[in-house]
Amino acid sequence: MIKVQKVGRVALGAKDLSSQTAFYVDHWGLGLTEEADGRVYLRTTAAEHNAVTLVAADEAGLREIGLEVATADELERAAEELAKAGVRIEKGAGPADRPGAKRNLRLRDPDGNAVELYWGDDKVGEDYGRRNVKPLNLNHIVLRTTDVDRAYSFYKNTFGFRESDWNGHHMVFLRCNEIHHQLAFTTRDKAGLDHVAFEVNDFMEIAKGVYYLGERGVARLWGPGRHGAGNNLFSYFWDPEHNIIEYTTDIIRIKDESKWTPRVWPGRDTVDLWKQGPPRVMKE
Ligand SMILES: [Fe+2]
Repeated sequence: MIKVQKVGRVALGAKDLSSQTAFYVDHWGLGLTEEADGRVYLRTTAAEHNAVTLVAADEAGLREIGLEVATADELERAAEELAKAGVRIEKGAGPADRPGAKRNLRLRDPDGNAVELYWGDDKVGEDYGRRNVKPLNLNHIVLRTTDVDRAYSFYKNTFGFRESDWNGHHMVFLRCNEIHHQLAFTTRDKAGLDHVAFEVNDFMEIAKGVYYLGERGVARLWGPGRHGAGNNLFSYFWDPEHNIIEYTTDIIRIKDESKWTPRVWPGRDTVDLWKQGPPRVMKE
Protein backbone atom coordinates (compact mmCIF):
# COMPACT_ATOMS: atom_id res chain seq x y z
CA MET A 1 0.00 0.00 0.00
CA ILE A 2 1.15 3.51 -0.79
CA LYS A 3 1.36 5.77 2.23
CA VAL A 4 -0.14 9.19 1.63
CA GLN A 5 0.64 11.65 4.41
CA LYS A 6 -1.38 14.66 3.35
CA VAL A 7 -4.03 15.93 0.96
CA GLY A 8 -2.04 19.02 0.16
CA ARG A 9 -3.38 20.71 -2.94
CA VAL A 10 -6.15 21.20 -5.42
CA ALA A 11 -6.18 22.59 -8.95
CA LEU A 12 -9.26 24.39 -10.24
CA GLY A 13 -10.12 25.48 -13.74
CA ALA A 14 -10.59 29.26 -14.06
CA LYS A 15 -12.57 30.80 -16.91
CA ASP A 16 -11.38 34.24 -15.85
CA LEU A 17 -7.97 33.69 -14.33
CA SER A 18 -7.40 37.26 -13.21
CA SER A 19 -10.74 37.69 -11.43
CA GLN A 20 -10.45 34.27 -9.77
CA THR A 21 -6.94 35.16 -8.64
CA ALA A 22 -8.14 38.48 -7.26
CA PHE A 23 -10.94 36.76 -5.35
CA TYR A 24 -8.68 34.16 -3.72
CA VAL A 25 -5.96 36.68 -2.88
CA ASP A 26 -7.95 39.75 -1.85
CA HIS A 27 -11.15 38.21 -0.49
CA TRP A 28 -10.40 34.65 0.56
CA GLY A 29 -6.98 35.41 2.04
CA LEU A 30 -4.50 33.23 0.11
CA GLY A 31 -1.06 34.41 -1.03
CA LEU A 32 0.29 34.38 -4.58
CA THR A 33 3.61 32.57 -4.90
CA GLU A 34 4.01 32.17 -8.63
CA GLU A 35 2.27 32.82 -11.91
CA ALA A 36 3.34 31.18 -15.17
CA ASP A 37 1.88 29.75 -18.37
CA GLY A 38 -1.76 30.36 -17.52
CA ARG A 39 -1.39 28.99 -14.02
CA VAL A 40 -1.51 30.79 -10.71
CA TYR A 41 -0.06 29.15 -7.59
CA LEU A 42 -1.58 30.16 -4.27
CA ARG A 43 -0.53 29.39 -0.72
CA THR A 44 -1.88 29.42 2.80
CA THR A 45 0.12 30.46 5.86
CA ALA A 46 1.62 26.95 5.93
CA ALA A 47 5.11 26.81 4.49
CA GLU A 48 4.15 25.00 1.28
CA HIS A 49 4.68 26.75 -2.04
CA ASN A 50 1.08 26.15 -3.12
CA ALA A 51 -2.16 24.66 -1.89
CA VAL A 52 -4.34 25.89 -4.75
CA THR A 53 -3.53 26.12 -8.44
CA LEU A 54 -5.82 28.10 -10.71
CA VAL A 55 -5.57 26.95 -14.32
CA ALA A 56 -6.84 29.07 -17.21
CA ALA A 57 -9.54 26.88 -18.77
CA ASP A 58 -12.86 26.88 -20.60
CA GLU A 59 -14.58 25.36 -17.59
CA ALA A 60 -14.49 25.98 -13.86
CA GLY A 61 -14.33 23.06 -11.44
CA LEU A 62 -11.93 20.37 -10.40
CA ARG A 63 -8.77 19.77 -12.43
CA GLU A 64 -6.75 17.74 -9.95
CA ILE A 65 -6.21 16.85 -6.33
CA GLY A 66 -2.71 16.46 -4.89
CA LEU A 67 -1.63 13.80 -2.40
CA GLU A 68 1.77 14.05 -0.72
CA VAL A 69 4.04 11.10 0.04
CA ALA A 70 6.93 11.30 2.51
CA THR A 71 9.93 10.32 0.41
CA ALA A 72 11.22 10.06 -3.14
CA ASP A 73 11.51 6.28 -2.63
CA GLU A 74 7.84 6.10 -1.68
CA LEU A 75 6.95 7.84 -4.95
CA GLU A 76 8.99 5.30 -6.95
CA ARG A 77 7.41 2.44 -5.05
CA ALA A 78 3.98 3.98 -5.67
CA ALA A 79 4.64 4.02 -9.41
CA GLU A 80 5.41 0.29 -9.38
CA GLU A 81 2.42 -0.54 -7.21
CA LEU A 82 -0.01 1.50 -9.31
CA ALA A 83 1.25 -0.13 -12.50
CA LYS A 84 0.81 -3.59 -10.98
CA ALA A 85 -2.73 -2.71 -9.88
CA GLY A 86 -3.61 -1.59 -13.41
CA VAL A 87 -4.28 2.02 -12.41
CA ARG A 88 -4.33 4.48 -15.30
CA ILE A 89 -1.09 6.50 -15.10
CA GLU A 90 -0.97 9.79 -16.97
CA LYS A 91 2.52 10.89 -15.97
CA GLY A 92 5.14 8.50 -14.70
CA ALA A 93 7.24 9.20 -11.61
CA GLY A 94 9.90 11.78 -12.39
CA PRO A 95 10.89 15.41 -11.93
CA ALA A 96 7.82 17.48 -11.08
CA ASP A 97 6.10 19.20 -14.00
CA ARG A 98 4.91 22.07 -11.80
CA PRO A 99 6.53 24.55 -9.43
CA GLY A 100 6.62 23.77 -5.73
CA ALA A 101 7.44 20.05 -5.71
CA LYS A 102 10.50 17.97 -6.56
CA ARG A 103 8.96 14.84 -8.07
CA ASN A 104 5.48 13.72 -9.01
CA LEU A 105 3.30 11.35 -10.98
CA ARG A 106 -0.29 11.52 -12.13
CA LEU A 107 -3.11 8.99 -12.28
CA ARG A 108 -6.90 8.76 -12.61
CA ASP A 109 -9.11 7.46 -9.83
CA PRO A 110 -12.17 5.27 -10.57
CA ASP A 111 -14.42 8.35 -10.91
CA GLY A 112 -12.03 9.76 -13.51
CA ASN A 113 -10.59 12.45 -11.22
CA ALA A 114 -7.01 13.46 -11.93
CA VAL A 115 -4.80 12.72 -8.92
CA GLU A 116 -1.24 13.93 -8.45
CA LEU A 117 1.11 12.08 -6.10
CA TYR A 118 4.01 14.33 -5.18
CA TRP A 119 7.06 14.56 -3.00
CA GLY A 120 9.38 17.38 -1.97
CA ASP A 121 7.39 20.49 -1.30
CA ASP A 122 9.29 23.74 -1.71
CA LYS A 123 8.98 25.78 1.44
CA VAL A 124 8.12 29.46 1.32
CA GLY A 125 8.27 30.68 4.87
CA GLU A 126 7.94 34.41 4.60
CA ASP A 127 4.70 36.13 5.46
CA TYR A 128 2.61 37.27 2.52
CA GLY A 129 1.08 40.36 4.01
CA ARG A 130 -2.17 41.38 5.62
CA ARG A 131 -5.56 39.90 4.81
CA ASN A 132 -8.90 39.88 6.56
CA VAL A 133 -8.45 36.16 7.36
CA LYS A 134 -5.51 33.98 6.33
CA PRO A 135 -6.25 30.26 5.92
CA LEU A 136 -3.84 27.99 7.79
CA ASN A 137 -4.01 25.09 5.34
CA LEU A 138 -6.07 23.28 2.78
CA ASN A 139 -8.01 21.29 5.35
CA HIS A 140 -10.08 18.94 3.22
CA ILE A 141 -11.53 18.22 -0.20
CA VAL A 142 -14.96 16.65 -0.71
CA LEU A 143 -15.58 14.93 -4.03
CA ARG A 144 -18.85 13.80 -5.53
CA THR A 145 -18.86 10.19 -6.63
CA THR A 146 -21.26 7.93 -8.46
CA ASP A 147 -20.16 4.98 -6.30
CA VAL A 148 -19.15 5.78 -2.73
CA ASP A 149 -18.11 2.18 -1.92
CA ARG A 150 -15.84 2.03 -4.97
CA ALA A 151 -14.26 5.40 -4.10
CA TYR A 152 -13.75 4.34 -0.48
CA SER A 153 -12.13 1.03 -1.34
CA PHE A 154 -9.86 2.60 -3.95
CA TYR A 155 -8.51 5.26 -1.57
CA LYS A 156 -8.31 2.77 1.32
CA ASN A 157 -6.58 -0.02 -0.57
CA THR A 158 -4.36 2.11 -2.79
CA PHE A 159 -3.39 5.01 -0.53
CA GLY A 160 -4.09 3.82 3.02
CA PHE A 161 -6.92 6.21 3.87
CA ARG A 162 -8.93 5.21 6.96
CA GLU A 163 -12.66 5.72 7.44
CA SER A 164 -13.40 8.26 10.17
CA ASP A 165 -17.20 8.41 9.91
CA TRP A 166 -20.12 8.06 7.50
CA ASN A 167 -23.26 10.09 6.87
CA GLY A 168 -25.73 7.30 6.29
CA HIS A 169 -24.35 5.23 3.43
CA HIS A 170 -24.01 8.16 1.07
CA MET A 171 -20.97 10.03 2.42
CA VAL A 172 -17.67 8.70 3.77
CA PHE A 173 -15.07 10.78 5.64
CA LEU A 174 -11.47 9.65 5.21
CA ARG A 175 -8.22 10.50 6.96
CA CYS A 176 -4.56 9.96 6.12
CA ASN A 177 -3.20 11.82 9.15
CA GLU A 178 -4.71 13.10 12.39
CA ILE A 179 -7.25 15.42 10.72
CA HIS A 180 -10.67 13.72 10.93
CA HIS A 181 -11.19 14.08 7.20
CA GLN A 182 -8.84 15.40 4.57
CA LEU A 183 -10.86 13.68 1.88
CA ALA A 184 -14.53 12.75 1.73
CA PHE A 185 -16.84 11.33 -0.92
CA THR A 186 -20.51 12.09 -1.25
CA THR A 187 -22.91 10.23 -3.54
CA ARG A 188 -24.22 12.09 -6.57
CA ASP A 189 -25.36 11.33 -10.13
CA LYS A 190 -22.21 12.94 -11.49
CA ALA A 191 -18.64 12.89 -10.20
CA GLY A 192 -16.76 16.13 -9.56
CA LEU A 193 -15.91 18.63 -6.89
CA ASP A 194 -18.26 19.15 -3.99
CA HIS A 195 -16.14 21.63 -2.03
CA VAL A 196 -12.70 22.63 -0.79
CA ALA A 197 -12.24 23.63 2.86
CA PHE A 198 -9.63 25.92 4.38
CA GLU A 199 -8.88 25.87 8.09
CA VAL A 200 -8.86 29.11 10.05
CA ASN A 201 -7.84 29.76 13.66
CA ASP A 202 -11.19 29.96 15.39
CA PHE A 203 -14.86 30.78 15.09
CA MET A 204 -14.15 34.51 15.27
CA GLU A 205 -12.23 34.20 11.99
CA ILE A 206 -15.17 32.42 10.36
CA ALA A 207 -17.36 35.31 11.53
CA LYS A 208 -14.83 37.82 10.15
CA GLY A 209 -14.94 35.96 6.83
CA VAL A 210 -18.73 36.02 6.78
CA TYR A 211 -19.06 39.75 7.19
CA TYR A 212 -16.02 40.71 5.10
CA LEU A 213 -17.19 38.59 2.15
CA GLY A 214 -20.83 39.59 2.66
CA GLU A 215 -19.96 43.28 2.53
CA ARG A 216 -18.18 42.63 -0.77
CA GLY A 217 -21.14 40.87 -2.34
CA VAL A 218 -19.95 37.29 -1.91
CA ALA A 219 -23.04 35.33 -0.93
CA ARG A 220 -22.85 32.88 1.92
CA LEU A 221 -24.08 29.49 0.80
CA TRP A 222 -24.50 27.63 4.13
CA GLY A 223 -23.73 28.33 7.74
CA PRO A 224 -22.20 29.23 10.03
CA GLY A 225 -22.93 25.88 11.64
CA ARG A 226 -21.30 22.80 13.09
CA HIS A 227 -21.06 19.43 11.38
CA GLY A 228 -21.73 16.19 13.25
CA ALA A 229 -19.05 14.17 11.46
CA GLY A 230 -15.75 15.85 12.29
CA ASN A 231 -17.41 18.28 14.72
CA ASN A 232 -16.05 21.17 12.66
CA LEU A 233 -17.51 24.64 12.55
CA PHE A 234 -18.16 25.80 9.02
CA SER A 235 -19.36 28.46 6.66
CA TYR A 236 -19.66 27.78 2.93
CA PHE A 237 -19.47 30.24 0.05
CA TRP A 238 -19.42 30.25 -3.71
CA ASP A 239 -16.35 31.62 -5.42
CA PRO A 240 -17.08 33.80 -8.49
CA GLU A 241 -17.11 30.71 -10.74
CA HIS A 242 -19.41 28.70 -8.48
CA ASN A 243 -16.87 26.42 -6.88
CA ILE A 244 -18.01 25.75 -3.31
CA ILE A 245 -15.43 26.72 -0.68
CA GLU A 246 -15.49 26.57 3.09
CA TYR A 247 -13.88 28.22 6.06
CA THR A 248 -13.65 25.63 8.81
CA THR A 249 -12.25 25.34 12.32
CA ASP A 250 -12.30 23.08 15.38
CA ILE A 251 -12.20 19.88 13.33
CA ILE A 252 -11.46 16.72 15.34
CA ARG A 253 -7.85 15.57 15.28
CA ILE A 254 -7.49 11.86 15.93
CA LYS A 255 -4.30 11.57 17.96
CA ASP A 256 -4.75 7.95 19.01
CA GLU A 257 -5.80 5.67 16.15
CA SER A 258 -6.52 2.81 18.54
CA LYS A 259 -9.20 4.80 20.34
CA TRP A 260 -11.22 5.92 17.31
CA THR A 261 -14.35 4.03 16.31
CA PRO A 262 -16.04 5.18 13.10
CA ARG A 263 -19.72 5.91 13.44
CA VAL A 264 -22.60 6.28 11.04
CA TRP A 265 -24.28 9.64 11.50
CA PRO A 266 -27.96 9.69 10.52
CA GLY A 267 -27.17 12.48 8.07
CA ARG A 268 -30.26 14.62 7.73
CA ASP A 269 -30.33 16.04 11.26
CA THR A 270 -26.63 15.87 11.97
CA VAL A 271 -25.00 17.49 8.95
CA ASP A 272 -25.58 20.71 10.87
CA LEU A 273 -25.89 20.36 14.64
CA TRP A 274 -27.23 23.95 14.65
CA LYS A 275 -30.12 22.68 12.51
CA GLN A 276 -29.85 24.75 9.38
CA GLY A 277 -30.13 22.05 6.73
CA PRO A 278 -27.83 22.19 3.70
CA PRO A 279 -28.84 24.16 0.62
CA ARG A 280 -30.22 22.15 -2.28
CA VAL A 281 -27.00 22.46 -4.25
CA MET A 282 -25.15 20.57 -1.53
CA LYS A 283 -27.57 17.68 -1.15
CA GLU A 284 -28.78 17.02 -4.66
FE1 LIG B 1 -16.35 20.51 4.47
